[in-house]
Amino acid sequence: MSRTDFLKKVGWVGAGALLLPTCEVRANPGRRIRVGVIGCGSVSNMYLPHLSRSPFVELVSLCDIKPERADAQGQQFNVAHRYPHIDQMLAGVPFDLLVNLTNMQEHGRLNRQALLGGKHVWSEKPLANNYAEGRRLLDLATSRGLRIWGAPAVVNSPQFAFMARTLREGRLGKVAAAHAHYGHTGPSWSAFFYEKGGGSLPDLGVYNLATLSGLLGPVHAVMSMNTVVTPARKVDDKGTIRVEAEDNAMVIMDHGNGVLSHVQCGFNYFDPYGHEGKGQDRPTISVWGSEGNMSLIGYDWAPFGVELATSWTDPPQRHATDTGSYVWEQGASVVAECLATGKEPRIHPEHALHVLEIIEAARRSQRKGARIPLRSSFPWPLAP
Ligand SMILES: NC(=O)c1ccc[n+]([C@@H]2O[C@H](COP(=O)([O-])OP(=O)(O)OC[C@H]3O[C@@H](n4cnc5c(N)ncnc54)[C@H](O)[C@@H]3O)[C@@H](O)[C@H]2O)c1
Repeated sequence: MSRTDFLKKVGWVGAGALLLPTCEVRANPGRRIRVGVIGCGSVSNMYLPHLSRSPFVELVSLCDIKPERADAQGQQFNVAHRYPHIDQMLAGVPFDLLVNLTNMQEHGRLNRQALLGGKHVWSEKPLANNYAEGRRLLDLATSRGLRIWGAPAVVNSPQFAFMARTLREGRLGKVAAAHAHYGHTGPSWSAFFYEKGGGSLPDLGVYNLATLSGLLGPVHAVMSMNTVVTPARKVDDKGTIRVEAEDNAMVIMDHGNGVLSHVQCGFNYFDPYGHEGKGQDRPTISVWGSEGNMSLIGYDWAPFGVELATSWTDPPQRHATDTGSYVWEQGASVVAECLATGKEPRIHPEHALHVLEIIEAARRSQRKGARIPLRSSFPWPLAP
């Protein structure tokens, strides 16, 4: 189904949705996209090596309110221009794409400032701190002929593609249910993960929510219970803090046509594979239908294969064991390629916004003890 057919079918015309600038419009073949990275903490150690290897990227500037971090990364990755504040970064050496790797609570504000400064944006999750703010950002980008995208990049994996294809081909029969889980014992380096605007839903559940909605389609309604299991935490930057955002969540989603799915995530899960997930070889995502079931092996952001069972007699088969060039930290490089070549990525900003609305609905459901209908949608099925 084409994007336009999809929008007609669901009767949905979100503001500016049909006017979303395409990469083709912005493409400038042969030119590298000049990238400025804001936030030089933990995750920049994954992004910067990937960005510096990309043939579509020229890393031009770094920024962190802890200037010693920008300096250290600048030395390691040979980036000459370093700034202690976004105002100076935007006024400094010109660039095309802001890569936002700051604290979750800062994303909406900094992404807006970048768009107002004429930059495209790749944002770590979440894209904004609530759905309404995210919608305003996307509308702002569209009105200025700019692009904004948000993590995660899970839909880019060959394993996701295999699962989506299997569903499209009807190999599972009538699909009924799916489950996903992701957790560990929680980051120890920064308080923001546990403060208002943080939480296990936007930090961890976001991957599973993107995978299940990407596979099964836009979510119509959400019910959720979210709790705090560990009310006080010790973190490197602030010592002992009070945990304000959920560190334990169970979300049930209604995808329409009777299809239900469930995500559980939290910062209190003992997992011998740890935060990095190295060596994980067990399923974390499962989808069941009337004629088959399939399970994704490993975490959805770092998968190793898909086990498919469609026979009453033969054992399940493992497929899609080659991860190709996919790595979870590739999002910013992939959108830089889009801006440079016009190759539209499978990652879609409306999908990131939809996931943001699911997270907000999950929290409202917990507060009200109610089933929460959603307003947003995204072009689905996602591009193959
Ligand atoms: N660490 C990981 O493994 C990981 C993995 C995937 C996604 N993420 C996401 O990446 C983001 C950052 O996480 P992290 O673990 O790197 O956190 P971190 O605390 O290690 O780093 C965040 C950095 O942003 C800087 N910063 C904060 N506000 C700023 C501002 N206004 N201007 C400039 N710099 C600012 C901080 O000084 C810090 O250096 C979060 O959204 C997180 O969910 C992290």
